[in-house]
Amino acid sequence: MGNIVDDRNIAVVAIDGPSGSGKGTIAQQLAGYLGWHLLDSGALYRLVAVAAQDSATDLDDVAGLSRLAVGLDIRFATGADGTEQIFLRQTDVAGEVRTEETGKIASKIAAMPQVRAALMELQKSFRKAPGLVADGRDMGSVVFPDAPVKIFLTASPEERARRRHKQLKDKGIDVSLPAVSADIAERDRRDRERAVAPLRPAPDAEILDTTGLSINEVFEQVKKIVATALADR
Ligand code: DC
Repeated sequence: MGNIVDDRNIAVVAIDGPSGSGKGTIAQQLAGYLGWHLLDSGALYRLVAVAAQDSATDLDDVAGLSRLAVGLDIRFATGADGTEQIFLRQTDVAGEVRTEETGKIASKIAAMPQVRAALMELQKSFRKAPGLVADGRDMGSVVFPDAPVKIFLTASPEERARRRHKQLKDKGIDVSLPAVSADIAERDRRDRERAVAPLRPAPDAEILDTTGLSINEVFEQVKKIVATALADR
């Protein structure tokens, strides 16, 4: 076994939840605070969606989509001005990755067990010392079931739609609140009802309802949960 690293010793904080629950922002803040790596697993599903569009792969072509997922050549970075960069091969596709349309396609692709399996190794490869904060839908339940800290963030559908709408408006994307609400409801239903890795808390996850809480208030609670769990290790 020689130099094989047993990565079960590398701690993972799994942060799962539906769209607009605040998990993306919280995961990013927590990774910065701890000085740990960050896995935005939703971005991987979104990148498969972008790669499918680029290569004109049909959304019914499960084998083709799985091949794209296995061969994803990606890199996450931050621009000099702090903007998010997501490279697919050598091209920054961050703008395309974050659109509602890409999110919708990603949610359809994410219902395919073959694509989920194809992304498994890539997701696990983010587990590196000193630790990983992993954000998604099935981080605690499927990808990192041995994570010592599992948090499931929720919020009412109305509040999640409001947050998502504001996020899009801040980015200069012009969409109406009812359109965002309808999209969120449809995506929630698809993510919850799919047969493989449906959106649901791991049995040992701490559930945190963030309705009515500011991001700072959520972050304070998350920090407490993480500190307590890591102190017990
Ligand atoms: O979190 P997000 O909006 O970037 O995720 C995009 C889609 O990817 C979402 O609709 C569900 C899917 N997804 C998933 O099935 N499993 C994950 N771990 C992360 C995202």
